[in-house]
Amino acid sequence: MAAAAPLLVMQGISKSFGSVQAVANVDLELNKGEILGLVGDNAAGKSTLMKLLTAVHKPDAGEIFIDGERAHIRNPSAARRYGIEMIYQDFSLAPNLSIADNIFLGRELKHSVAGLPLLDRKTMRRIARDTLGETHIRIDSVDTIVTDLSGGQQQAVAIARAIAFDAKVIIMDEPTASLSVKTIPPLLDLMRRLRDQGRSMIFITHRIQDVFDTCDRVLVLRRGTRVGLAPVGQTSIEEVTGLITGTREAFGAPPDHATH
Ligand SMILES: Nc1ncnc2c1ncn2[C@@H]1O[C@H](COP(=O)(O)OP(=O)(O)OP(=O)(O)O)[C@@H](O)[C@H]1O
Ligand SMILES: [Mg+2]
Repeated sequence: MAAAAPLLVMQGISKSFGSVQAVANVDLELNKGEILGLVGDNAAGKSTLMKLLTAVHKPDAGEIFIDGERAHIRNPSAARRYGIEMIYQDFSLAPNLSIADNIFLGRELKHSVAGLPLLDRKTMRRIARDTLGETHIRIDSVDTIVTDLSGGQQQAVAIARAIAFDAKVIIMDEPTASLSVKTIPPLLDLMRRLRDQGRSMIFITHRIQDVFDTCDRVLVLRRGTRVGLAPVGQTSIEEVTGLITGTREAFGAPPDHATH
């Protein structure tokens, strides 16, 4: 039997902004139940590559496949419909809304009461409570307004929003950047638990040790180009750091369609 297609394939992806080539012919594959670390120096193209996946930007070239089929992701809502959720560094929550309202923002559940479509608040609150419970981050009530939450709690709400809608691919762009040192290990634990439930994640971070603690494989970008891809067990912090800074040559197999 042929091996199952990777959950997500990005192939030959390129994007320029004016004279800046932010992403140059990059290939990325993500398997089901995998955490892929995406690392590289500032301006290496990490966030841009993910924004090309969620259609915040349109690629100049390249194709995306999900479950082996060509995906046409035209805008961020379409990305969500494909099961791709991006969690931004600032969590992108609506500060004045409750936790439950944030989790369902733009995707509210409705039910019919005497023939009228009304918000199904009871179900939304229950699902919000259940999914937050999965994050193991303590929050007293799903009616709490988001501004009253700590950074770690807001992070949990952003993750709960992704898992409530059964995201297949969760992208975390520097999720630890605004967390206190104490709240980082629980986040990494949560990521590993989600992975063990079969979810797939792309984890962008500058903390290379965290990549080795959580990820299955690591992909290194330098100046928009993929310079390395390896299982974390087959590389080292020193090697990855060398690839990021350019003191080491590329490792990993070149892309199949490489022309040189
Ligand atoms: N909307 C945009 N308009 C113009 N240039 C952009 C835009 N977004 C990104 N760039 C440029 O593309 C390059 C890659 O940026 P990107 O944000 O992807 O880097 P990054 O790897 O995420 O870096 P960091 O670690 O600092 O977040 C940079 O040179 C950046 O200035
Ligand atoms: Mg970035």
